Formats: sequence, structure tokens, C-alpha cells
Amino acid sequence: MTMTNGAQCNRKQATQIILEYLANFPEAPSKTLAKKIYADHPTFPSFESVYSRVRYYRGQLGTQHRKGLKDKTFQKELKIEYTMKEKFLPESYANKRDTFIFPTGCKTLGVIGDVHIPYQDNDAIEAAFTEMEKQNIDSLYINGDLLDFYQLSFHEKDPRMVHFKQELEAGRQFLDYCRSRFPGIPIYFIPGNHENRFERYLRVKASELLDMDEFRLDVLLHVAEYGVQYIPFRSKVVFGDFLIEHGDKIPGAGGVVPARTALMRLKTNCLINHFHKTSSSSQRVYGPGESTTIRGYSLGCLCELTPEYLEINEWNHGFAILKRNGNLVQVNNYKIEGNQIV
Ligand SMILES: [Fe+2]
Ligand SMILES: [Fe+2]
Repeated sequence: MTMTNGAQCNRKQATQIILEYLANFPEAPSKTLAKKIYADHPTFPSFESVYSRVRYYRGQLGTQHRKGLKDKTFQKELKIEYTMKEKFLPESYANKRDTFIFPTGCKTLGVIGDVHIPYQDNDAIEAAFTEMEKQNIDSLYINGDLLDFYQLSFHEKDPRMVHFKQELEAGRQFLDYCRSRFPGIPIYFIPGNHENRFERYLRVKASELLDMDEFRLDVLLHVAEYGVQYIPFRSKVVFGDFLIEHGDKIPGAGGVVPARTALMRLKTNCLINHFHKTSSSSQRVYGPGESTTIRGYSLGCLCELTPEYLEINEWNHGFAILKRNGNLVQVNNYKIEGNQIV
């Protein structure tokens, strides 16, 4: 169809022209086709009006227009593989912490930590265990840094110090001793930052061994042989209404009162021992209902108090016995001075 130059085509004529071109050039891209139509027929008001009508008949102006178009002769298929295919979020590698909750049958829990074998203080350990026996603990929890793993540290080391093999043997001997002192009760152990030196060492020096069961810490320590339940590193540990952490994950240093630092960071009833210092703190929480009080405790250690790398410090020996009534936990946080419990 041809038009006289100078006069604008009417709507019916315009439609007829567009449909003719769509029939003759079915594979031409819409924009190219519109350019050709407008070049051949400058009687159209504008290129945009041609382009828009080409896209209209091809069903490229959105769902509403596609549905409304009666003559679908030139309507193109949508690119189904893009618009209709099911989409997925990328795989997430975010870590979620495991949670370990002490069983409800556990009512009187003895807690020790920071024994730093083989640099432990045997007199302090005996004092703690004797008191725990006296109070009839029904479970024992070793809250990290049971072993020192001095030779696996990335700090400068004295090669004459106790070797890794001896440290492991001493660790096994300690677990064996715990089992003999508390024969009938569950014993739990979670690694702390010092035991984590082992995994860090493997990552850097022997990464091929990382996924081998034979090189797992719980396997090397024979925990199953001594009936000790191993709780994976970084697990969140809950006893009644208390959160028990080793304490190394708390940002910054412990400060003058480590229990206060932990309480302010964790904002819940909590117990830690990483800072080797006995302290306690409480805080009233003003809420919409009744005010509540949250409590924090940090425990003393059971290792030597004046190690060569930090001779002057504020450490002290200590341990705790936690008693639970329902979900409510009472903490007895003991300090040991000169082998006496104070
Ligand atoms: Fe420690
Ligand atoms: Fe620690």
C-alpha cells in the first residue's frame, strides 16, 4: 500500500501498512522493521508511533496488551526460559552455631575450665574435685582450655617445652583421672581457644589432614574410651536459664571485672572462664512488665598462675557448682587460695 507524500495516513490505513510489513518480514527485529516502515511511509506521525504499533501486534508491550489483542497472528512467543523458569537464591555458606542443652536430669553441675594441661595446678584441681564430691555433683563440665597445646601455638616457642605428643598423653591421663574420681556421672568437654590451636595448626601446616577422622581432637583424646561427651568447638551451651561460654568469643579483653564485661556483651545470665579470674556481676533490667535481674559469672582457672609469658596477672584458681531448680540456676562461684576454698 502506498500513500501520497505530505498527507498523514489515517488509523485504518496505518494498521493495514503495519500488518503488511509484519506479514512480509516476520523475522525482522521490531526496531529494524519500524525504521523501515517509517522510512518507506513518512506519513506516520513519528518513528515512535510505528515502533509502538509493531510491538503492540507482536505482543511486546506487556501482559495487559497481550491479553487485549484480538488478532494474535503476529504475536511472538515470550522468552519462556527467562520469564517462567523457577529461580533460586544462591547457596548460603553462613555458619549457624550448634546448641547444646544440658539434660533436665542434670541438677548439680560441677564446672571447671582453663586447666591448661600439662601446666595445670594439681593441688587446685584436688581442692575443686573434693568440694564437688562433697556436694554430690551429678555432672561435670570442662569448659574449654583443658589442654594448652603450647607447641601448636603460632607465638614464638621454646622447643624444650613439653611436646605435643606428651600434651595429648597428659590430656588423656587427666580424662581418665576425672572418670575415676566421678565414676558414675556424665562428663562433658568443649574445646576452648587453646584446643583450637590444633585445628589452626592443621589448616596452615597440614590441611590435607583436616577432614580425616583420625585427626579429630576427640579421637586423639580418646574421649569415648573415658565416657566423656565431646561438644563441638563454638557450640552454644545452655544450662537452665544460663548461657555457658568459654569466653574467648566475647569481643575485647575481660577488663577489671570479666563477669561484668560478659554480662554487658551477652545481656543474659551467663558464665565464662576464659579470663582466669573469679568475678560476678548483676544488672536489673527494666522492661515493660516486672523488672528482672540478669547475672554474670567468670570463673578462676586451674592452671599455673605465673606462666613465663605472662608472669604478672590477676588470675586466680577457681571453679563453680551450679544447682538447678526447674529452669532457675543458682551459681556457687568458688575461689581457691592456697589450696583452700574461699
Ligand atoms: Fe585459658
Ligand atoms: Fe581461653
